[in-house]
Amino acid sequence: MNIRKAVIPVAGKGTRFLPATKQIPKEMIPIINIPMIHYSVMEAVKSGIEQLVFVTSTGKESIENYFDRNMELEGFLEKNGKLKELELIKDIGTKIEVITVRQKEQLGLGHAINCSRSVIGNEAFAVILGDDLVLSEEPVTKQLAKISAQNDNKSVIGVMEVPNSETFRYGIVDGDFLSSDARTLHMKAMIEKPLPENAPTNLATPGRYILTPEIFDCLDRIPRGVGGEYQLTDAINMLAAQDKVYANIFTGDRFDTGNIEGYLNATVEFALRDEATKEMMINIIKDKVSKYGI
Ligand code: UTP
Repeated sequence: MNIRKAVIPVAGKGTRFLPATKQIPKEMIPIINIPMIHYSVMEAVKSGIEQLVFVTSTGKESIENYFDRNMELEGFLEKNGKLKELELIKDIGTKIEVITVRQKEQLGLGHAINCSRSVIGNEAFAVILGDDLVLSEEPVTKQLAKISAQNDNKSVIGVMEVPNSETFRYGIVDGDFLSSDARTLHMKAMIEKPLPENAPTNLATPGRYILTPEIFDCLDRIPRGVGGEYQLTDAINMLAAQDKVYANIFTGDRFDTGNIEGYLNATVEFALRDEATKEMMINIIKDKVSKYGI
């Protein structure tokens, strides 16, 4: 079954990026000149998603506007012969249908996903977290949708290998590898931030999921969890207890741009991967190394 819809929750407060996030949504903070959210949306587009649901909150209007057309700016660029720039911005506003739903109170990621229920309806859908960027040849959402299609259209959680010493930073999955696929597990449970000695695997869950609509009943039933918030992890564990849930080790490089260190790392790496900025970044790094004697 094709996955046609994706939910991108962007209603969080983004406290790790204050004071910028007092006025700018975290997801609109750019890596060089491209807002983080642009990468998530392009991943959805390239994965064949037809309808995108943003779960938003007060102050996030600029995200909607970014994916709309801006006729005034288009007119200005056209009049001034800036045709390359014109193509760039026109393209963003025409790629995909965007629907927004509001999360009126920030009660956690699980609660945010549950806010999309009326738009998603009774079909499997993707979840893409806007501050987890993955660069890969085949978009991660597409990779996971394929695994779902190969396994009775069940839910699939995207996972990546992390060093054993770092399991305490992530949700970690427990499960058994399928005999037919060395990168896919039948997931038994997801454990939040276990210490290395308690971690069943080193397979961590950055924000990529294919979920069957049964997740919504689980989201209705879970109590508030860690931090007093409705946790998506709790709902996925409930789903895994009643139905098959898979986890797949996706291919690609993941950047956690929701924190300052990950954001800096992505900025340097993205500049080095782009021919237009590669030389600049190399020279800047060389200069800093000699200046600060690193
Ligand atoms: P985070 O845990 O990164 O929270 O949420 P945050 O508010 O964005 O950032 P910090 O921790 O305060 O710095 C993970 C994802 O879930 C969304 C966020 O927008 C982010 O994409 N989210 C989180 C919601 O949409 N609603 C919530 O109530 C919580």
